[in-house]
Amino acid sequence: MLTPDIPAPSTSKLYFLKEVYYGFRPNAPQFTPDDYPDLTDKTAIVTGCNTGIGKYVLELLYQKNCHVIGVVRTSEKGEQAKEDILERNPESKGKIDIIGECDFLDLNKVIKAGKRIGEILDQSDCGALNIVIHNAGLTWLVAPNSAKSSIQGYESMYQTNVLGPQLLQHYIDPYLLKDDDKTLKRLVWVSSAAHFFTPEPYGIYWDDPGFKETSIENRPTGMNLYGQSKTYNIYQAQAWYDKHKEQADKIGCVSVSCYPGNLSTDMSRAWWPPFVTAAKLVVWDGVYGAYSELYGALSPSLTTADSGSYIVPFGEIHDPREDVKAGLTNGIATHIWDFCEEQISEYLP
Ligand SMILES: NC(=O)c1ccc[n+]([C@@H]2O[C@H](COP(=O)([O-])OP(=O)(O)OC[C@H]3O[C@@H](n4cnc5c(N)ncnc54)[C@H](OP(=O)(O)O)[C@@H]3O)[C@@H](O)[C@H]2O)c1
Repeated sequence: MLTPDIPAPSTSKLYFLKEVYYGFRPNAPQFTPDDYPDLTDKTAIVTGCNTGIGKYVLELLYQKNCHVIGVVRTSEKGEQAKEDILERNPESKGKIDIIGECDFLDLNKVIKAGKRIGEILDQSDCGALNIVIHNAGLTWLVAPNSAKSSIQGYESMYQTNVLGPQLLQHYIDPYLLKDDDKTLKRLVWVSSAAHFFTPEPYGIYWDDPGFKETSIENRPTGMNLYGQSKTYNIYQAQAWYDKHKEQADKIGCVSVSCYPGNLSTDMSRAWWPPFVTAAKLVVWDGVYGAYSELYGALSPSLTTADSGSYIVPFGEIHDPREDVKAGLTNGIATHIWDFCEEQISEYLP
């Protein structure tokens, strides 16, 4: 992809330090389960809901009587999460459907999951689709040194965190964009403060963002690659809204990105156990990440004018890095959305 000829503002080390520190010492959540509305007759899609933040999100939505479609890559893990949650919440009037085998590392599997979502949403007893949370994500902590490439040959975090969700969203759009329930329409792209750890300008490796043409040993560090993928998520929130502005405004659909927090989740599954114990002293329980994501999904204070906003822990709006913030309004966001569209073009519905 060519570097766009759009000058970027300089970035401030002070803002970087302030935001990284904030991630460890955020304000207490102000919008918590007691504030969530009843979600009877509402439907949500949550990816990566078998563990970590996604499982908390699944449970909190289900507790409010929501019909949740949980998208996972291993059916058994998803069904186990469903069983745990049903057992713990016998009073809920909600419903959980698990769609398995959605491995974002293979775009052909994303197509199958997208079609399966459509089949569920087409059922006559299924109401409007209200909420979509692209929570599933791969970090360099699980894929050290980005050693792998996807089935389609892209760097694994780029495909899992960027191309996969963008492709899945195309299968979801006809339902989310329906003019059927204006009381709640939300789209959340889960990002990270790791976007601060990316090159300037705009946090993108412009020469070869998907690293398809770059051998594994010549790729940047896993942290940088993860950071780039999470920068994309910030742009995706804005670009999706820009692309669908007329209909999104008509139905009140808000699209935001969300950095959930520095949290203890299954992300540390590959770590040396004593290090996991030490890390727990400075990070937060995973449920706090669910508070951040559900602020984006449920808070009545958000309107379409907030689309493109970057939510930080545990439910506040801050600015992303200065050049990324500029990229939301100067054409960069749609430029990279269109670039991803080219890469997934043969898989689109
Ligand atoms: N935890 C943090 O401190 C933190 C900070 C900033 C941002 N985040 C973001 O928050 C989101 C959730 O993270 P988490 O902390 O809950 O991590 P987690 O416990 O590792 O859960 C990640 C979820 O994503 C799924 N996933 C990973 N690779 C996938 C693939 N190729 N295809 C389909 N699903 C895949 C996992 O499925 P499997 O169980 O099958 O692997 C799991 O369900 C991620 O987007 C992450 O980047 C987390």
